[in-house]
Amino acid sequence: MTVLLKSQQEIAKMRIAGTLASEVLDYITPFVKPGVTTGELDTLCHNYMVDVQHTIPAPLNYAPPGYSPYPKSICTSVNHQVCHGVPGQKILKSGDIVNIDVTVIKDDYHGDTSRMYYVGEPGIQARRLCEITYEAMWRGIEEIKPEKHLGDVGHAIQQFAENHGYSVVREFCGHGIGAKFHEDPQVLHYGRAGTGLKLRAGMIFTVEPMINAGKAPIRALADGWTIVTKDHSLSAQWEHTVLVTETGYEVLTVSAGAPPKPVFRS
Ligand code: MF3
Ligand code: CO
Ligand code: CO
Repeated sequence: MTVLLKSQQEIAKMRIAGTLASEVLDYITPFVKPGVTTGELDTLCHNYMVDVQHTIPAPLNYAPPGYSPYPKSICTSVNHQVCHGVPGQKILKSGDIVNIDVTVIKDDYHGDTSRMYYVGEPGIQARRLCEITYEAMWRGIEEIKPEKHLGDVGHAIQQFAENHGYSVVREFCGHGIGAKFHEDPQVLHYGRAGTGLKLRAGMIFTVEPMINAGKAPIRALADGWTIVTKDHSLSAQWEHTVLVTETGYEVLTVSAGAPPKPVFRS
């Protein structure tokens, strides 16, 4: 496993790409309303990225080994969809929760971030799942510091999610990111404190826990991309791209509309 340490020039480019990715999520926020289709959200984001930002939507035609090329520019994962939901004709209705995951390429570097959106008024359980998942991501991020381990990140996320009666998806994880969309290391959202890769300043990776209200198992739909919970329980995910600094961490996927770090519950 080769974990690249980014130079100051690369970090500067990653800050720009991260901000732009987050700004796509800001841009789309007012459009996430009952009656809109996920395909319309994809078209809006695509045009914003290409025409306004002059960024490249990294998902479009992305084809890792064993996958057919991804056909759209963003991922939209609704309700029991865990991740990689392919935008299409699905009409969003009040009470739905949807994860929108955006990855842009600017000046050869990637920024990758996702948020949960409420369509109209969320139910109490959907809101709680989204909030707990958000705090779980941040509890993982708060562990990031040189000399700490990736297992500390995964452990913090898993412990918090499971303490609230939820389960952590195992099959997908965070990832190193830079000139490549997905590179080493793999960032598991579960694990044991003090184990795994030791963090060093200059590493950049995502933290993107997928948390299910029910059981952890997942399956893929026939489109080859969309992942759903096996038990059809609700699933939530948030994602940031994070730099390890000399003293801790810097979240790179920030913009005016990015929600702040939450006040941690006890
Ligand atoms: N953005 C996703 C991630 O966080 C990856 C999506 S791959 C795609 O890693 F092809 F589905 F877009
Ligand atoms: Co990612
Ligand atoms: Co992503």
